[in-house]
Amino acid sequence: MRAVVVSKFGSLDLIEVPTSEPGPGQVRIEVAAAAVNPVDVLTRDGVVPIDAEQLPVGLGWDVAGRVDAVGAGVEQFAVGDVVLGLEDQLVMELGPYADFVVLDAAAVAPAPRTVDAIAASTLPLNAVTAAQSLDLIDLAPGQTLLVTGAAGAVGGFVVELATARGLHVVALAGAGDEQAVRGWGARTFVPRSDDPAGAVRAIFPDGVDGVIDPAHLRESVLGAVRDGGAYVNLAPSLGPAPTERAIRRLDQFAHHDGALLAELGRLVDAGRLTLRVAQTFPLDEAPAALDLAGKDGVRGRVVIVP
Ligand SMILES: NC(=O)c1ccc[n+]([C@@H]2O[C@H](COP(=O)([O-])OP(=O)(O)OC[C@H]3O[C@@H](n4cnc5c(N)ncnc54)[C@H](OP(=O)(O)O)[C@@H]3O)[C@@H](O)[C@H]2O)c1
Repeated sequence: MRAVVVSKFGSLDLIEVPTSEPGPGQVRIEVAAAAVNPVDVLTRDGVVPIDAEQLPVGLGWDVAGRVDAVGAGVEQFAVGDVVLGLEDQLVMELGPYADFVVLDAAAVAPAPRTVDAIAASTLPLNAVTAAQSLDLIDLAPGQTLLVTGAAGAVGGFVVELATARGLHVVALAGAGDEQAVRGWGARTFVPRSDDPAGAVRAIFPDGVDGVIDPAHLRESVLGAVRDGGAYVNLAPSLGPAPTERAIRRLDQFAHHDGALLAELGRLVDAGRLTLRVAQTFPLDEAPAALDLAGKDGVRGRVVIVP
């Protein structure tokens, strides 16, 4: 089978390897689509905690496809099942940028039925992250949540899931994204600027109850949060979440959760989560896919279709 790996930071290699076999508790998925996330670009570029001695590493976190083989002890999936999966390790021999990928069955869920594999592959990492961030911050219905990068992949899912939980979502995004984020449920829109905290305080003088920060605005947005509020850091590798004035400091690390992923797939089928695809590329054009995904202003995910 073919797989894309990083053998040297800064570039990708397409290699031929023996098709991986699933071990106990694992499934092998024939990859139909694998979304490109910022972490993949950062891995290629060596801007993640991976040592050069750990190379080569596989690439990709999100996969949609069909179960092709099951390991011993796997009862919840059978060959032919249409599934989604989330690979949540930075250092892995081979990842979803491949013809086949082996994952723990606990990281896999039935795919939503109403969308194709390309759209479905944009769900796992970012929707799971959005849901886990909301669990971490644990706000009550009616409380105010500021979402930075609200038009991005994580931010968009946070807006929709937080709205469904009854939170008052304050979306911080580019002016051109206002219609989209309001369409997902944001009640208040704040255009991005050099002073996001000041712009939020102009609307909420007492501050918001919490912020989830996919745009990594960190200290520059902390002033928007009320005393004793909460801040979710989505870039723990940049350092622990900043804090002041008894603001709860929360660091989010995405971890696979098949049951949660199944629930998120049902929300897609119910029309309550929006999937966005920017462009697809074949596996042998993975370098071009990552180049596009790494550009600012891309809306929707770039997806690799082996
Ligand atoms: N810790 C975890 O568990 C976890 C999990 C998943 C993702 N992440 C990280 O979370 C980050 C976001 O991921 P993503 O997939 O959502 O990326 P994305 O789709 O590129 O979204 C980021 C968004 O932030 C916007 N943005 C940038 N600067 C801004 C500013 N000053 N004000 C308002 N918006 C701004 C971007 O707009 P433009 O494109 O116009 O610049 C873009 O819409 C990435 O760094 C990713 O690695 C962490």
